[in-house]
Order: sequence, then C-alpha cells, then structure tokens
Amino acid sequence: MKIAIIGYGYWGPNLVRNFANTPDCEVAYVLDQSAQQLQRVQKAYPNVKTTSNYDEILADNSVDAVAIATPVSAHYPLAKQALEHGKNVLIEKPMTSSVEEAESLIALAKTNGKVLMVDHTYLYTPAVQQMKTLIDDGTLGSLQYIDSTRINLGLFQKDVNVLWDLAPHDISICNYLMEEKPLAVQAVGVSHTENNLENIAYLTLHYPNNKIAHFNCSWVSPVKIRQMLIGGDKKMIVFNDLETTEKLKIYDKGYTVLPESDRDKILVDYRTGDIRIPKLPQKEALGGMAQDFVNAILKGTTPISDFNSGLEVVAILEAASESILNKGKEVLIEPKYVA
Ligand SMILES: NC(=O)c1ccc[n+]([C@@H]2O[C@H](COP(=O)([O-])OP(=O)(O)OC[C@H]3O[C@@H](n4cnc5c(N)ncnc54)[C@H](O)[C@@H]3O)[C@@H](O)[C@H]2O)c1
Repeated sequence: MKIAIIGYGYWGPNLVRNFANTPDCEVAYVLDQSAQQLQRVQKAYPNVKTTSNYDEILADNSVDAVAIATPVSAHYPLAKQALEHGKNVLIEKPMTSSVEEAESLIALAKTNGKVLMVDHTYLYTPAVQQMKTLIDDGTLGSLQYIDSTRINLGLFQKDVNVLWDLAPHDISICNYLMEEKPLAVQAVGVSHTENNLENIAYLTLHYPNNKIAHFNCSWVSPVKIRQMLIGGDKKMIVFNDLETTEKLKIYDKGYTVLPESDRDKILVDYRTGDIRIPKLPQKEALGGMAQDFVNAILKGTTPISDFNSGLEVVAILEAASESILNKGKEVLIEPKYVA
C-alpha cells in the first residue's frame, strides 16, 4: 500500500522512517507547507515525492492512506478531506480539537468503509504491553490507581494547552490498562503566557469502583520526568520511561486491611517483598503502530489504538478544559464509544 505523510515537522520524520521500514508499505508522498521542510525530505528520501498541494495527493488514486502529523487544529479538515476521497487515515494524537469533530470523522470512515486510527504511540511500547500482560494475567491484582508525572521544559504549543499536548499519552495508557472508562474528570491549570493556554495542569480521572488516575503535566519544569505509578492490590509498578533498560520495576508491596477486631493498634498490615525488573524487548513503538495501521488496511484487523481510543481521549480532554474553566469542578463524561 502507498501512504502520504502530511506534516514534516518534529514528529512527521519519525512517521516517514517507520512507514518506510514497514513491510508491504511504501511512502509515496510527503506534504508540508514549508519548502524548507520538503528539502529535508528530498535529501533523506530522494524517491519520495514532495508537495505542498494536498489536492495532488487526494487526486492520486494509487495513494491508499494518509498519516496526519500537523498541529492539532489542522487534523480535522485534513482527515475529513482524505476520508471523503476514499483514503484510509491515521491521525496523530490528539485525534481532533473536539468530540464533535472526532464523531464526524468516525461517521465518515464508517460510511466509506475506511480505516481511521490515531497514533497513541505509548500503547505500542514494550513497557505498556508488559504492564497490560501483568494486569490481564492477574499479577498486579485489582488495579486501584495510576499516578503520572510528565513534566519538562517543554515546547509551548501555539494551538493547544499542556493537557491536550501531553496528557493524550497518559489518558490512552490509563484507558488501555484500566479497561474501563472514567466516569468524571477534574482539572485545574494555569497559563503564564498571553495566549491563556495553560502550561501547567493537573488532571484527575475518576473510574468506576473507586479507581483513580492523576496526571501532572507541565512545560515549565527544570527537570524532565516521565514516571507513572500503577497500583494493584497485589503488586505495584513504577514505570520510568527515561530509563533505558530498567523501565519497569515491579514491587511486591501491598497491604491488607485488618478485620475490625484486630484494629486496636493498626488499621492495615503491610507487605514488602522483592522488586523485579523485567527484561523488555528493545523495539521502537512507532514501528508497531505503523504495522498495526497497515494490517488494519490490508488484513482488516482492529488496531489497538482505534478511533474509539482517539474519541475517548478527546472526550476526556474536552471535559478537562471545561473543568479548568470552572476552577476544577467535576465534569461527568458521557459514554463515548462507537460500535
Ligand atoms: N505520538 C507522539 O508521541 C507525538 C510526539 C510529538 C508530536 N505528536 C503530534 O504530532 C503532531 C505534529 O506535532 P509536531 O511536534 O511535529 O509539530 P510541528 O509544528 O513540529 O510540525 C508540524 C508540521 O506540519 C506543517 N503544517 C502545519 N499545518 C499544515 C497544513 N495545514 N498542511 C500541511 N502541513 C502543515 C508545518 O509546516 C510543520 O512542518 C501533533 O498532533 C502532535 O501532538 C505526537
């Protein structure tokens, strides 16, 4: 199959490289508004056509799919046109700027029988796949909380706040691991720039059965932290994405709430056991994501990061924005799922 990559800024080159390395897939075009960026493509990939004219790609019937890696505000119009022209579509996270846009793209993809997928890259990392296995096989026990810190001196985005930029990673991982969707969202955030886009924000997701997730996202931290704590009632995990080989540490730690008769001194009894560090395969997540998209098109498989995953993330982000506007008010999330 032939794919066109739309947007060759920071992330686009990673898509080009990974799709170029994916079996049964050829990168036919790269599009960018910037002539300078297109020169970079020509130098690295002399056989790939470059253009700044989207119509050229839409009119080329040999192009099966487009992958959109532009700023978020351009995702919807570009994806809509591609679906209308019978192309399969991969969109970078977050899928769209609103639930309404996401739902409209899903409806279009279903009507036209095309694949619509979102790049939630983290779902394809060996670390997240390993955590999923440990949850599914019961090693962690019942999941109780996820607590994530994703902060650094980051690039201020022009069209979205820090939650729309960074939290799609955390939200997609949480929904994937929890296997449940949050019922409600609370968020607070502040902006230190004139455009009023928050550069620090704290987001809490309330899941059924007292499960909770909390994310700290910031573009103004002096240090870079990418750490997630995943607490089960049998074991707990520390996921440090900045570690090269020891990304996951599985703690055999836990507690038992004592029966009322034994509570004269303490409420809970603690357990502290070994720490295990699993060996994870060294592979690039984006390669798995590209393969998942190609398989969905050529073999009809359902991708891990499908349009529902994209819609759910946007629904949570939209609710978070409403909560921030209302000083952290709890905002209920209506179930968002398209069969
Ligand atoms: N999956 C991940 O881990 C990950 C990481 C970084 C960025 N992203 C996502 O990738 C997308 C792009 O982010 P980035 O950091 O590469 O942005 P960027 O600003 O570095 O690059 C965007 C590129 O798109 C081009 N562009 C802008 N509007 C366009 C349009 N209408 N048509 C064609 N080209 C256009 C710009 O010229 C630029 O070269 C965002 O959605 C972002 O959230 C994903």
